[in-house]
Amino acid sequence: MITRRSMLKTGMATGAVGAAGLLIPATAGPAAASPAGAASPAGAAGAAGSRGASAAVDLDPASVPKFTQAMPLAPTATPYMSMPMTMDCYALTIQEADKEVLPGALTRVWTFNGGFPGPVLKARSGVRTVVDQTNNLPVGISVHLHGAHVSADNDGDPMVLIPPNGGTKTYTYPNSQPHANLWFHDHAHHAESESAFRGLAGTYLLTDDIEQSLNLPSGAYDVPIQLRDARFDDQAQLVYQMGDQSRHVILANGKAWPYLNVAARKYRFRLCNTANTRFFTLALSDGATFQQIGSDGGLLPAPVTVNQVVISPGERADIVVDFSKYAVGTTLEFRNEGTGGPIDQISKVLQFRVDRTAADTSVVPSTLRTLPALPAATVNRSFTLAMGGGVATINGLAYEHGRIDTEIAYGATEVWTVTNPGPGNHNFHVHLVQFRVIERNGTPVTSGPEYGLKDTVRVGSGETVKIQATFTGYRGQYLYHCHMFDHAAMGMMATLRVS
Ligand code: C2O
Ligand code: CU
Ligand code: CU
Repeated sequence: MITRRSMLKTGMATGAVGAAGLLIPATAGPAAASPAGAASPAGAAGAAGSRGASAAVDLDPASVPKFTQAMPLAPTATPYMSMPMTMDCYALTIQEADKEVLPGALTRVWTFNGGFPGPVLKARSGVRTVVDQTNNLPVGISVHLHGAHVSADNDGDPMVLIPPNGGTKTYTYPNSQPHANLWFHDHAHHAESESAFRGLAGTYLLTDDIEQSLNLPSGAYDVPIQLRDARFDDQAQLVYQMGDQSRHVILANGKAWPYLNVAARKYRFRLCNTANTRFFTLALSDGATFQQIGSDGGLLPAPVTVNQVVISPGERADIVVDFSKYAVGTTLEFRNEGTGGPIDQISKVLQFRVDRTAADTSVVPSTLRTLPALPAATVNRSFTLAMGGGVATINGLAYEHGRIDTEIAYGATEVWTVTNPGPGNHNFHVHLVQFRVIERNGTPVTSGPEYGLKDTVRVGSGETVKIQATFTGYRGQYLYHCHMFDHAAMGMMATLRVS
């Protein structure tokens, strides 16, 4: 059996790059070397407790070699049963796995079906998706399909958990909405931040006839990429602390600073920021432009030519990069121009290596979709996001399960003004709906990357954003919150009720 420890030794014996940063301290006993501690029911606290003081030594991100591992593609899940044009049924198991996240070492992570990144579920509007989840973790989990229009009992209520150690729950997603770039993650009360950090994040690509009628890059040239950060100890195990500002290792599809071989042609990348709190500002290292074609709720009305995209936690950007202008042999980087850590580390994300040519018949048409008309709003509300003294609030209140903060009449169209007086960034996510961003800092949004269907919007320090949504389709209780998971877990979350 290959243990994590023997892997490490092998790595060192063969002189694998990066092993130097992953040395096991001589003081570490067998218990300290056991990966089991990292997944104890008590989470990070239990892990630290069971592994002693030596485990508190941080991995220095600078010691991790950059761009030596290939970026894996997220595995596509296969239904165990399909009824054509009616229903696809999946069985996913929530379980621990040991993955090579850092070169030459194994990290204990939490996964859907052993995938890190989690699997891709492919769905079609009008065709129901049924997911049987079995939870083999020692903690309760509630799976939320982010951005989906689903009934409240399938939305991943924070208190309705899949029991630990073998419990099951079936979630039904009717896919009664247009194509969208969705994803799923844990939403268990006060635990979602750590479970997402430990790896529970999967991709859910909902398509429809409109999207399929376009000849966008597809198949191997349509690549979902989960972007996030993490912090490790010197035994390559994840270190979770609420509100941690020291997550300085950047992961793309579950690998630290990987590379991706690409053909000299157009690629569609479905970027999803699954980080707890990090904002990414992504740009090509040569400053070249690319096209943003979509966001959270699917395609934009028209492609936008950009030289960077900003995605806050939970947000998605659907982009097309054309590598045909590069000679075979060219390498370039997808860089993060955002802040929050040592710049040499956090500015690196993913390296592209143009290693071949390939035919390309795909096109990015100048019109992608028609957005639904905006009905007139009849209700206006204001929400203020604030943090201080270890508590995070919306309109002065920290989240309390069962308290209804916003009562909404079924079918109502509302405009919500969300203000972040600062300091510090936030964002704002509403369950059940895809909303429109109608104004940012007093300026109407009539074009650009935010002119589409959204479920999560940046609200940077000092910013005010107006969003508009129509609450229809389902009655019941749903959440809205800052999607910086640590902030939500600290209380920046509230409940709406449609009735
Ligand atoms: Cu990603 Cu409450 O959601
Ligand atoms: Cu959500
Ligand atoms: Cu926040």
